Amino acid sequence: MKPEELSKKLAGEKAVDYIEQDMLIGLGTGSTVFWTMQKLAERVKEGLRIQAVPTSTATEELARKLGIPLLTLEDVKELDLVIDGADEISAELDLIKGGGGALLREKLVALASKKRIIVADSGKLTEELGGFPLPIEIVRFGWEQTFSRVLQLGCQITLREAENTPFITDNGNYILDCKFDGITDPVGVHQQLKLLPGVIETGLFVQLADVVVVGFPDRFELLER
Ligand code: A5P
Repeated sequence: MKPEELSKKLAGEKAVDYIEQDMLIGLGTGSTVFWTMQKLAERVKEGLRIQAVPTSTATEELARKLGIPLLTLEDVKELDLVIDGADEISAELDLIKGGGGALLREKLVALASKKRIIVADSGKLTEELGGFPLPIEIVRFGWEQTFSRVLQLGCQITLREAENTPFITDNGNYILDCKFDGITDPVGVHQQLKLLPGVIETGLFVQLADVVVVGFPDRFELLER
């Protein structure tokens, strides 16, 4: 296994230690949470009782395959915790998410959770957010106008594509990947974007991580807010 994959595996698996009997949990999306789900499935087979809200259809499908019991966000008032990945993590533990296109459901599940645990390889750590283009979810209707409005905030934008056609999220929307010249004020950038008609949600997760499990090829470290 490559060092980066080993790091993801270590971080992803470690986070399962936070899950206790009868918890209602959120399951994030991506290649690090993949390892969380493998380990969790083992624990479920050994007798751990949990129910999980998936943050994407990809996670839902994987959970079904692994035999992890599912429920939907509409079925619950609150989740005990969520385990999710991230694309970038700042020194303040603010995040950029949405590399996998699941940011809207991920944010809704994070907000419904009492504790938010992020799993990531150490390559995701950064002093300042913005090296990774910020994903924002927009409505398809009139998307070019929304594109122009976002452009006026001073970023370079790419409409996300998959196999040469626009990428469509689980919610039926488009994603704009917005490269800013460093994001020193994540709250300000998030608020400016949210004020634009057509923008549904941004991948900026500010103060939404309680614990970050950082994986290295041979160890993990915990960062806590
Ligand atoms: C999904 O939309 C993202 O927010 C993921 O959580 C993020 O891309 C992390 O994915 P990896 O663990 O695959 O890097």
